[in-house]
Amino acid sequence: MTTASQLELAKRDLNKHGFLPLEVDPTIDLVAEINRLKKEKNAVILAHYYQESEIQDIADYIGDSLGLSQEAARTDADIIVFAGVHFMAETAKMLNPQKKVLLPDLKAGCSLSDSCPPAVFRKYKEKYPDHVVVSYINCSAELKTLTDICCTSTNAEAIIRSIPEDQPIIFAPDRNLGAYLQKITGRENMKIWNGACMVHEIFSHEKITKLMLKHPEADFIAHPECEAHILEKAVYIGSTSGMIRYTEESEKDTFIVATEAGILHEMQKRSPNKIFIPAPPNNTCACNECPHMKRNTMEKLYLAMEHELPEIHLEDWIIKEGVKSIDKMLDVSAKAGL
Ligand code: 13P
Ligand code: SF4
Repeated sequence: MTTASQLELAKRDLNKHGFLPLEVDPTIDLVAEINRLKKEKNAVILAHYYQESEIQDIADYIGDSLGLSQEAARTDADIIVFAGVHFMAETAKMLNPQKKVLLPDLKAGCSLSDSCPPAVFRKYKEKYPDHVVVSYINCSAELKTLTDICCTSTNAEAIIRSIPEDQPIIFAPDRNLGAYLQKITGRENMKIWNGACMVHEIFSHEKITKLMLKHPEADFIAHPECEAHILEKAVYIGSTSGMIRYTEESEKDTFIVATEAGILHEMQKRSPNKIFIPAPPNNTCACNECPHMKRNTMEKLYLAMEHELPEIHLEDWIIKEGVKSIDKMLDVSAKAGL
């Protein structure tokens, strides 16, 4: 049982830790407690496929970045608990600003988002005033205020194709997704920001090749945040939801999967008799797990719901300016049936 003074101390230290540094009684049934809090507070838990399995299992909705944004925009819950990373929770707040949006750990960031600081990007953008800015949703709320239209890995191709062919584009912040889009759409007038995801750039070409030789029966599938030399080997390239769907619908039984390892949980759930092999990183660490996504734990989720902290706060001007690029993306997606 947390006392009032322990709670006050924990609130004071919240910013230092990113979460409320309170001990959770190890004997409590976290699943039962989180379900109780969901009902009592009319809260909805939205989780990304890269979250740990227990969090995915307790979520009301699991999805990719596009699905999570659509769900955040339409929910009538009073509280949105975002089991994902900071930019995703910010996006939910921008789409539904009157709701309380909680993120179990405020330090759950994103290397892609960090690779594009808004002040530096503003200067870069000033050099190309005639360019339309398309930003991958994996960027800060402030970067979205400098963006004409956002995209996710599910709708990126449709977003690029919705822009007139003679219109030059700045694409930020993912150089791998940008290069992939350039390749499939044939757009030459695209300037690409030099950012990358630390998880998707770690896969080893050599080890994947060896694994493919060992499992000739397997399909190799990859997320477009991977480098071009990895994507070249893939029979399917797509978003997390696209990859899951592919494995479900394919007649193949075995898949080598190049994206964050948390996705295997949903793949295995949907296809219990199929075999999923995570693509190996270029060293022996667990680098195919996103350290940001994995900052969220069941204990932090419980504490966030119990005390309604940490909460996402955004300045009004950021919400007002930034949401335009997300709304445009949702419009194009809806027209494309996504
Ligand atoms: P999607 O789930 O939209 O494919 O995004 C992957 C990702 O890296 C999220 O951080
Ligand atoms: Fe960001 Fe990569 Fe982690 Fe996704 S997997 S949140 S892009 S660092």
